[in-house]
Amino acid sequence: IMPLVLALVLGYLAGSIPFGLILTHAAGLGDIRKIGSGNIGATNVLRTGNKKVAAATLVLDALKAAVPVVVARYFWGEEAAMLAAVGAFFGHCFPVWLGFKGGKGVAVMIGSLLALAWPVGLIFCTVWLLIALTRKISSLSALTAAATAPIFAYLFGSEWLSMTVLVLALLLFFQHRENIARLLSGTEPRIGSQKKAS
Ligand code: G3P
Repeated sequence: IMPLVLALVLGYLAGSIPFGLILTHAAGLGDIRKIGSGNIGATNVLRTGNKKVAAATLVLDALKAAVPVVVARYFWGEEAAMLAAVGAFFGHCFPVWLGFKGGKGVAVMIGSLLALAWPVGLIFCTVWLLIALTRKISSLSALTAAATAPIFAYLFGSEWLSMTVLVLALLLFFQHRENIARLLSGTEPRIGSQKKAS
């Protein structure tokens, strides 16, 4: 049981590094929590107008989940790898350093899926892109990709992977509750729009 706990803790610690907050601060873009939706993720970093910092946030937030998954798999096996992904997701969404107010888990889910079962990760990115290109709404793209991910995880992975991905997807929906309310009322901003979302 100890390796599983270690994997969970390792994932949490890596996941709780708020790259969006750190990078925007380092780039002199101000406090990302006071911009747009107030979220610390890449979508909101893009609302500062700086595409490079937004892309870096996306990549690093994905890597902070992928790295612990790969490390946990190497040392402790596949079950530990899945727990590392769950840990990273909780760390990102509920970081102890930010009073448990973290992000929404989209980049982290991409990194976890690519590391756990890359075809499932690629499908997630494809679904995200398809919706993003046609509807131009980041949250809607993420919600659609997350809702379908457990099915693809079952088809191209295992039952356990599917259960793990379902947990991540449910948490992702919970973190998007304000976005869901805005989507339903038709007030969710489009990608790159500078408008205040809340
Ligand atoms: O990546 C999170 C995205 O789905 C929504 O972000 O800033 O529009 O709430 P935001």
